[in-house]
Amino acid sequence: MREWWKDGVIYQIYPRSFQDTTGTGVGDLKGIESRLDYLERLGIDAIWISPIFPSPMKDAGYDVSDYTGIDPTFGTLEDFESLTAAAHARGMKVLLDFVPSHTSDQHPWFQEARASKDSPKRDWYVWRDPGPDGGPPTNWISEFAGPAWTLDEATGQYYLHIFLTEQPSLNWRNPELRAAMYDVMRVWFDRGVDGFRVDAVENMAPDPEAGDNPPNPEWVESMGPARSHLGTNTKHLPVIFEIAREMRAVAEEYDPPRLLVGEAYGEIPQVMKYYGDALDAFQQPFNFLLIEAPWEAETLAGLIADYEAALPEGAWPNWVLGNHDRARIASRVGPAQARNAMLMLLTLRGTPTIYQGDELGMENVAIPPDRVQDPWEKNVPGQGLGRDPVRTPIAWEEAPFGGFSTVEPWLPMDLGAARIVARQEEDEASMLAFTRALLALRKETPALTRGSLEEVRAEGAVLRYTRRLGETRLEVALNTGTTPAEIDLAGALLVSTHPGAEAGGPLRPGEGRVTRAG
Ligand code: NOJ
Repeated sequence: MREWWKDGVIYQIYPRSFQDTTGTGVGDLKGIESRLDYLERLGIDAIWISPIFPSPMKDAGYDVSDYTGIDPTFGTLEDFESLTAAAHARGMKVLLDFVPSHTSDQHPWFQEARASKDSPKRDWYVWRDPGPDGGPPTNWISEFAGPAWTLDEATGQYYLHIFLTEQPSLNWRNPELRAAMYDVMRVWFDRGVDGFRVDAVENMAPDPEAGDNPPNPEWVESMGPARSHLGTNTKHLPVIFEIAREMRAVAEEYDPPRLLVGEAYGEIPQVMKYYGDALDAFQQPFNFLLIEAPWEAETLAGLIADYEAALPEGAWPNWVLGNHDRARIASRVGPAQARNAMLMLLTLRGTPTIYQGDELGMENVAIPPDRVQDPWEKNVPGQGLGRDPVRTPIAWEEAPFGGFSTVEPWLPMDLGAARIVARQEEDEASMLAFTRALLALRKETPALTRGSLEEVRAEGAVLRYTRRLGETRLEVALNTGTTPAEIDLAGALLVSTHPGAEAGGPLRPGEGRVTRAG
């Protein structure tokens, strides 16, 4: 049987900013359940919910202090079970976020580990004696700036944290730790979860014995301090692929096998390794190639073709244009190109993931310094590294706080009329209506899900490709430029970014069309 996720569309929910039902200014699980009708009408197949586990929230929940519980901010286990049942009743799958590379420093495992050098849990984390000068054991820099090692005064050793000081790295070379983490996966699978997005997998097995990381010759300040060195001894180390295979084996204990989507940023060959040599690791290593790519037809065509060509035999592709860590797509490509971006995301070959709000054309929201939440922005202020602008709440209605909450939300929000869901619901020409139309077209057009991807090319500023299944041939053309483009586009119009468009005639700036040519 064909796996559901091959034809499906994943929708990422950032729970803090989806819907608040408890008057805390932070979204919650009941809020998600209350908006399932919206998601069902949108036409997505699965929701991936960013972390909802107990957490001191130093990194918005990516600092987990209990892998099998629910943080009270988001509700209770009963709320989770109710949400899962309601989603399943609508035929929607539920994916959670598994954060294996590190815990919170408040996790009982770390508390136990730091208690003494002889603690049975000591080796579940990465400890080293100080370097020869008494400083950190290696020159590694944390993703959020500063040394990746913190001295634990009581025991005189440094512990590793690829992210915040409060996010100690787990030691995946320890078999007991591995077993404990696989049990965590089983707990959620047994509760009916359909899979995981697996966080920061490239950082799961740094090798302190290999020593310092070399400087990055291409570094410029805007990349942030962590990129000043290459990840030679910290990222994508071979043992990770063994772990990914073991995780997959856990997913395969279930029927149907649970889905694992690995988050690994890297060069194409690097990312492909996460499929596993025998396609026995992650079914879907996230494809971030286009998440920061310049919006130019030639560059896009090149990247799409390179990715397709690099896919191992039988591997299923996927596409991502936005998430809670990267600039909003509508801000990155400009509002005039936002529909084109959605058209591309939903017509390329492979599983798309839509980041919440991108179906509304949400843009980055400016965050005043006194409202900053993201620790990265706090550590390296004013350089544009902070991720709060892309994490702002959804405005559902014309109501105080956009109907997201009854109190001031945890982050400022865009209350512009154009962004409000209820407004877009009433407007057939809205971004929401367009996204729905595209999703509906995908559902009823097997060539868009199962068809081959052919003839990816740039014609001037126009990105073009063909999707073909049997006799059906679909032509996709999108004008990434700022002037009209004459093109030769055959067939009957199936969908256009511009309401009322016709199959023939030049493509307006930001206009994209799909036609059925055969
Ligand atoms: C990647 C997540 O997407 C990001 O939000 C988080 O800060 C890091 N991993 C650390 O868990």
